Amino acid sequence: MNVKTLLGERLQAALAQAGAAGAPPIVGPATRPEFGDYQANGALAAAKRLSTSPWELAQRVVDGADLTGIAARCEVTGPGFISLTIADEYLAQTLRGGRLDPVGGGSRVVIDYSHPNLAKEMQVHHLRSTIIGDAMARVLEALGYDVVRQNHVGDWGTNFGRLVAHLNDTGEDSEALGDLERFYTEASERFANDPAFAERARQVVVDLQGGDPQTLIRWQRYIDISMSHCQAVYDRLGVGLRPEHVRGESAYNDDLDGIAADLEAKGLVTESDGALCAFLDEFKGKDGKVVPIIVRKSDGGYVYHSTDLAAVRHRTGTLKAARVLYIVDARQSLHFRQLFALAERASYAAGASLEHHPFGMMLGADGRPFKTRAGGGTRLLDLLDEATERARRLVQTKNPALEADEVDRVAHAVGIGAVKYADLSKSRTGDYVFDWDAMMSFEGNTAPYLQYAYARIQSLFQRGRVEAGSLTGTPTIREPVEHALALQLVRFQETLEQVAATVMPHHLCTYLYDLAAAFMRFYETCPVLDSDARDDRLLLCRHTADTLSRGLGLLGIETVERM
Ligand code: ARG
Repeated sequence: MNVKTLLGERLQAALAQAGAAGAPPIVGPATRPEFGDYQANGALAAAKRLSTSPWELAQRVVDGADLTGIAARCEVTGPGFISLTIADEYLAQTLRGGRLDPVGGGSRVVIDYSHPNLAKEMQVHHLRSTIIGDAMARVLEALGYDVVRQNHVGDWGTNFGRLVAHLNDTGEDSEALGDLERFYTEASERFANDPAFAERARQVVVDLQGGDPQTLIRWQRYIDISMSHCQAVYDRLGVGLRPEHVRGESAYNDDLDGIAADLEAKGLVTESDGALCAFLDEFKGKDGKVVPIIVRKSDGGYVYHSTDLAAVRHRTGTLKAARVLYIVDARQSLHFRQLFALAERASYAAGASLEHHPFGMMLGADGRPFKTRAGGGTRLLDLLDEATERARRLVQTKNPALEADEVDRVAHAVGIGAVKYADLSKSRTGDYVFDWDAMMSFEGNTAPYLQYAYARIQSLFQRGRVEAGSLTGTPTIREPVEHALALQLVRFQETLEQVAATVMPHHLCTYLYDLAAAFMRFYETCPVLDSDARDDRLLLCRHTADTLSRGLGLLGIETVERM
């Protein structure tokens, strides 16, 4: 159990003894150094009910709490806060260098992320979902959850009519397919300007929906090519998405008639102008009228909502998820609120927690949607190229002695790492400004800063001719800066549990940044290699390095030994 939860339990027991059963002793990191390591404030609220003073109640909790072996100091501060300082021995024994308690217990979490639209090549705006979803998958897996990745790609709909029609004309093996962006633009232009082509494109949509084999083969060909572009981006990004995680919109086609019939049987939908719609009272527009959820259009076609209802049923029914996390941009909030409400009414949620975790837009310095340098476009691959190119220059300036193949490796780790970290370190819900210079800096809360902190510890080991793996045992903690570093190391577990619960990876970033800072303070104050406490301090260094690389790894960011 992480130390924060443990303190909470012990204080809760003492509160119960003091007559305030059920009152949560809200434990958090101390807000000021003089308050020790943790602070609890449960007594404040509970005291009112017991008509006693918060200070007195807190004192009774302090006297009654069993914190032997955990806290070295526990006392009342302020009007009734409880300040706790963790015992050095407890910290030393709890150091685990990035190893984690599997608190997830195999509980299943489905994560819906990345989900590009396959009509086009992957765009810059798919980056956030891909990065955040990947980090969440890693964190949850590390905590012992059973993670199922679902790439809900856009692979169906009228867009594909014009693409397949264009493919019919160019031939399946046409070179034009080498550049998907151009192919898409050509198809769209023909659709707009050539009525005969537009007519053929519409017929293709009908054929697709009718399941015409030849048309389906062409469509599949386009999907495969587009998907291979995505896979190249995933590999380049080091994101754990594989073809087997793809379950696109088209995968639910066969379920849609059944969904519509089921919703009708349950009396949840009615016909309105020929379309099948659900009207849920809680979704009113500005005009006070209920905003309908369209399940089937008047032409018999299905829509985004229908597919998503089928996906909910698949995830809760077939995959048996306890939680389903939708990492989708904030503009789709209404869609998901409606979806979850209707799924709940139709009993598709099956007790699972359906959660939309929205994120804001990626903006350029001008405050408009971000564009890459390459032609002012929004191709994701161009952004990644630029990232490694910039990182290469940065790395070469920082350390001209690096050899060519090392430069490649470091530039990749730093470039991709910087892009991911810049995104993950911001609170997810807001828009964020994509700023190359800030993310590629060795100062501040950036990936290069943390990667460099890790590399510095490695170079310390090299100078001391220390084999890091041979550093084992329980260190003796003497100095306040050692205590502070050990405390921060021990907080790794509780931080990840917080990330898992809130789906807010920036808590892990802040944690790692604070860890690097705690290490720097330790390193400036405490000599390591020529000190009597050499072994103890080297152990702290090892735990720091292991936790930094594990933590960055959970964000999908690589570390390098030298940079
Ligand atoms: N492909 C969709 C888009 O780009 C996002 C899909 C999100 N996931 C979902 N289950 N609706 O807009």
